[in-house]
Amino acid sequence: MALQYLALATMIVLYSLMFIGGYVSAAGLGLTCPDWPLCPDGIFPSEEYLIEWTHRLVAATTGALVVATMVASLINKNADLKIKVTSSLASVFVITQIVLGAMVIDLKLHAVLVAIHLGIGILLFSMVLLTTLFAFRISKISIDSKS
Ligand code: HEM
Repeated sequence: MALQYLALATMIVLYSLMFIGGYVSAAGLGLTCPDWPLCPDGIFPSEEYLIEWTHRLVAATTGALVVATMVASLINKNADLKIKVTSSLASVFVITQIVLGAMVIDLKLHAVLVAIHLGIGILLFSMVLLTTLFAFRISKISIDSKS
């Protein structure tokens, strides 16, 4: 898949994840699934754990997409330092965010950790947004240079 579309897909999935996270938080569902990484009834959740399980599944998908975007940026011959830095920072933030998510559950929604979870989510979104903008710019420059 072309880098710009991979980056765009990553941003859309990440945005959905932040939306679901906001719902989990506002609906008070943060501790409905008390285990990590799976909920008590295993890989396929019952209705009871569905929203939290969805947040985790979309988080795992986001993690894979963010890392794939970084790899695609690092090996792209037209990529400049900026996109390499933003996509690498996004990977650092996504891994931090997944570890923090587990700690948020383990420490029973400690307020400081939940606030940090939101803060890193915003930093992660900023890096993915910049990566997407840089990726579209690179593709435009390479099309222009061919014509
Ligand atoms: C890329 C990874 C992730 C992102 C971007 C993300 C993002 C978010 C966001 C934006 C919120 C809403 C925060 C708020 O409104 O205060 C949230 C809530 C939450 N997230 Fe994540 N999340 C990620 C991964 C995870 C993982 C792996 C877990 C682990 C199970 C997790 C557990 C939670 C919990 C329990 C809440 C609700 C906290 C509460 O009840 O206040 N998150 N997440």
